[in-house]
Amino acid sequence: MTRQDPESFGSRGGASAAIPAGLPRLPGLDHTLRVLKTGYPFIGQTCDTLGVDGFRARLMLREAFCLRGPEAAALLYGRSGVIRPMRNKHGVRHLEGEAHRRRKALFIRLVMDPARVEDLTRRFEDAWMRGLTPDREITVLDHANTALTRAVCGWAGLDLPDRDIARMTHILFRMSDRSGHFGRGTLATFVQRRQLERQLRVALRNAQGDTPLAILARELPPETAAVELLNILRPVVAIGRYIAFAAKALHEHPMWCDLFRSGNEDYIADFCEEVRRTAPFVPFTAAIATEELVWQGAIIPKGSWLLLDLFGTNRDARHFPMPDRFRPERMLDWKAQDDCFIPQGAGKVERSHRCPGEMATLALMTSAVRMLCCRMEYTLPPQDLSVALNRVPAQPASGVRIRVQRTSRATICGSSA
Ligand code: HEM
Repeated sequence: MTRQDPESFGSRGGASAAIPAGLPRLPGLDHTLRVLKTGYPFIGQTCDTLGVDGFRARLMLREAFCLRGPEAAALLYGRSGVIRPMRNKHGVRHLEGEAHRRRKALFIRLVMDPARVEDLTRRFEDAWMRGLTPDREITVLDHANTALTRAVCGWAGLDLPDRDIARMTHILFRMSDRSGHFGRGTLATFVQRRQLERQLRVALRNAQGDTPLAILARELPPETAAVELLNILRPVVAIGRYIAFAAKALHEHPMWCDLFRSGNEDYIADFCEEVRRTAPFVPFTAAIATEELVWQGAIIPKGSWLLLDLFGTNRDARHFPMPDRFRPERMLDWKAQDDCFIPQGAGKVERSHRCPGEMATLALMTSAVRMLCCRMEYTLPPQDLSVALNRVPAQPASGVRIRVQRTSRATICGSSA
């Protein structure tokens, strides 16, 4: 990749003298359509073409600084002077400073406690196995979504009758599925979200004991508690997409499935981390500069929009040699909390907006891979496993359909089966 002296960025792409020296600006009035057409690779491809790690574009007629790499991650996740755009005033994502640290500590207590994560995983395994019948075809994405919904609702202390699980799964999945879209479907999801928040407020009023529901009810005002509960339920169900990508990776790289099936589980976590690195999920995160910032010698004026390319940073050849190769041998680990491997945000989890759900995500993915390899046998019928990179969030087109042949309550790993 060719690199360019940051001081000379302003001379590329037609930046005028009135604009502070800095990053190249893409020619043209607005680039929103280009982003929609290109999808996930937009920032990375443009950076590669320009030989830079940042450029300016106009998105929805607003100037946006599009950045990638660990230095950019440190800018969005490591310092003051940036805030998240407001979408819901009650959620942790829109707090800053001391208020954010306090609320984040509550999340860490709830979703990064090893015993609670283990409980969630056990519930997920029960729900996954319970929904399997030999000689039937299932779609991994749908199956995972239902099992995750059942598990996380029970874990949180939400007592849902069986008949309500399908509806809850649908609503929670739609919330993340619509996150990259606008239109009639978005409005319907918005209405369902409000209805669900009302339903959760009722459940919060009656919550007892030491469940996440009861803890949120004790520590937060009702409206805020409902929003934060949803900030746990919704992303847990979104992990179904990673599980579908993991099933696709097992199919495309059968040596890993064979290895796990032989009883060697040493690399299961590494396998899942590599799925998180390569699977297109959150394309970028957005922030707004609340003061003038300097990045790689370039001035970013106060009020500017900043977009950090998560997808491109995870595929940057300077940090991940042969980035398009699926290589669990990289031995990535969310616990390193670095600014290069950032599928769920960067920085230190307790001090930044980094996702507190990485531990649970890894635990649930690992458990799904273990069940796919060691507690069931299946075949894949012909299907379309391609991934459209201009659909956000992306997924394997078929959702990964499998025909289950045999299931086992105990592990079949290491056996001759
Ligand atoms: C499907 C897997 C997941 C993905 C791809 C994901 C992605 C992300 C990303 C990129 C951020 C940073 C947002 C920003 O910087 O503005 C984030 C934040 C957050 N995530 Fe996740 N997440 C996942 C799973 C989870 C889980 C399982 C939970 C909870 C159990 C969770 C709860 C949160 C919360 C509460 C925040 C806001 C943190 C803050 O603002 O300090 N996420 N997530």
